[in-house]
Amino acid sequence: MTKLRIGIIGVGGIAQGRHIPAFQKLNEDCEISAVSDVNKERAQEVAAKYNIENVYEDYRDMFQKVDAVCICTPNKFHAEITIAALEAGVNVLCEKPMALSSEECEEMLEASKRSNKVLAIAYHYRFMKNSQAAKQMMQDVGTPLVTRVQALRRRKVPGWGVFTNKSLQGGGSLIDYGCHLLDLAIWLMGSPKHISVNGSTYNILSKTPNSVNQWGTFDHETFDVDDHVTAYIKFENGASLLLETSWAANILDDQEHVSISGVEGGLSVFPLELYTAKNGMLMNSQAAWVPGEDDPGLAQAKNFIDTCLGKAELVVKPEEALQVSQIIDQIYKSAEVTK
Ligand SMILES: NC(=O)c1ccc[n+]([C@@H]2O[C@H](COP(=O)([O-])OP(=O)(O)OC[C@H]3O[C@@H](n4cnc5c(N)ncnc54)[C@H](O)[C@@H]3O)[C@@H](O)[C@H]2O)c1
Repeated sequence: MTKLRIGIIGVGGIAQGRHIPAFQKLNEDCEISAVSDVNKERAQEVAAKYNIENVYEDYRDMFQKVDAVCICTPNKFHAEITIAALEAGVNVLCEKPMALSSEECEEMLEASKRSNKVLAIAYHYRFMKNSQAAKQMMQDVGTPLVTRVQALRRRKVPGWGVFTNKSLQGGGSLIDYGCHLLDLAIWLMGSPKHISVNGSTYNILSKTPNSVNQWGTFDHETFDVDDHVTAYIKFENGASLLLETSWAANILDDQEHVSISGVEGGLSVFPLELYTAKNGMLMNSQAAWVPGEDDPGLAQAKNFIDTCLGKAELVVKPEEALQVSQIIDQIYKSAEVTK
């Protein structure tokens, strides 16, 4: 069987930390045959380090030579590169968030429908073992009523790359970090349609020189994104979701939490626990062992390749990633109104 030829576009942190190692492990079904980066020197270094044959400065030049691309550029370029790749007949795994705005996401979705090629978005939290198990456990939870999502870091603003630049990333803690847990929660809830979104955003760090930060330094004067966000989302089936996300909370410790209270029971994903009320008792169950792949990046790459090869269905569908972007847009808009 011929192997799927993969091109990597943007060879910074996430490309080297997650995608290149994952695709190289799956070498029975695919090979990374090309890399591209606007920083050609970096592209050449990475190609040499990982033994990748072709290097391009302009990503368009690789489309003839690959069957699929993995887009790992700043968010601003996700839509443009995805649409160009799909139009050239190339399958796409695009990093999260899907794009800067929901309008761009809709254009990406249209391009995937027109081309009939795969468009996957790298919401890798869904591939964590706890998340996959929690999806199964939803049958004991019943209809979801109230979902709580916390994605909180204590003073950990990414000081590298362009994460604090709104024009390149579209936002801060919410679009970069909270999006993962929001995506996971809505998927577990069965992707109900949202009907109202209200939020508050904070960017206190932009006014605070020399902030204490665990993940490098940043210039507060150019920091123009949210550092803390709260939101309340209602769904058409009556369910509601409370969201809090931050890169820089003043709290005891980092917290990553998704919990769902449903009609019959409840669950928490991190740690994985089930709460039931049966036979006149309240029971708590903790997972003693959970099956699956330990590395969610590897499971994600495998699902993408298998889908391109017609052997599987996408776990993260682009329509679902679009909904996450619609909610993010609406949180940012509602926060502007109430400021
Ligand atoms: N899934 C996750 O948990 C996760 C974690 C980190 C980053 N990300 C996402 O990955 C993407 C990249 O983040 P990163 O941390 O790797 O950033 P990075 O700054 O380390 O790397 C980005 C690379 O893209 C290159 N680039 C910029 N514009 C380009 C263009 N038009 N064409 C080709 N290359 C271009 C840059 O030169 C750089 O090498 C972002 O969308 C980010 O949200 C996801």
